[in-house]
Amino acid sequence: MAKISIFAGSVYGNAQHVAEETSGMFEKHGIESEVFTDPEISDFVDAYAVVVITSTTGQGDVPPNLELFFSDLRDEFPMMNSKPFAVAALGDSSYGESYCGAGKQFQELLTELQGKPVAEMLEVDAIETLAAEEEVVPWLENLVPQLIES
Ligand SMILES: Cc1cc2nc3c(=O)[nH]c(=O)nc-3n(C[C@H](O)[C@H](O)[C@H](O)COP(=O)(O)O)c2cc1C
Repeated sequence: MAKISIFAGSVYGNAQHVAEETSGMFEKHGIESEVFTDPEISDFVDAYAVVVITSTTGQGDVPPNLELFFSDLRDEFPMMNSKPFAVAALGDSSYGESYCGAGKQFQELLTELQGKPVAEMLEVDAIETLAAEEEVVPWLENLVPQLIES
């Protein structure tokens, strides 16, 4: 059975809540998944597929709970060999150029690691959307076949 690792980068809990709802959706489809808020590289390497759901903080920065994970990925550079991945970015377009910056950094890094993006990154704008899970969960539900394809 495919196991999807969901990496949640969150400051105020929004993205974490979305990650937990996503995990529930995967479970409904009979797919094992786990939400990581303090992940290690082995959680990434052991996954069949990778989902990143992250907000952005500061000026385009990765939330503190994923900072170390992100820099470890950069340093250790574990190649993904076409492992499927998807990134959902929660942001706020009033931040201008740094809109969804953390999601963009992950999308870029996972592409450099030669993961296989199953879709373009999803951007969820806090100005337009109050309940981010209502966008992210159906988006990922549509991507289930690509995430678990063998
Ligand atoms: C101090 C602060 C800085 C932020 N910086 C950015 C930013 O640079 N770019 C962006 O798109 N959103 C930014 N945001 C918006 C958050 O990413 C957005 O509100 C998100 O939904 C928060 O999710 P969370 O509760 O999971 O942290 C910022 C929010 C705060 C409070």
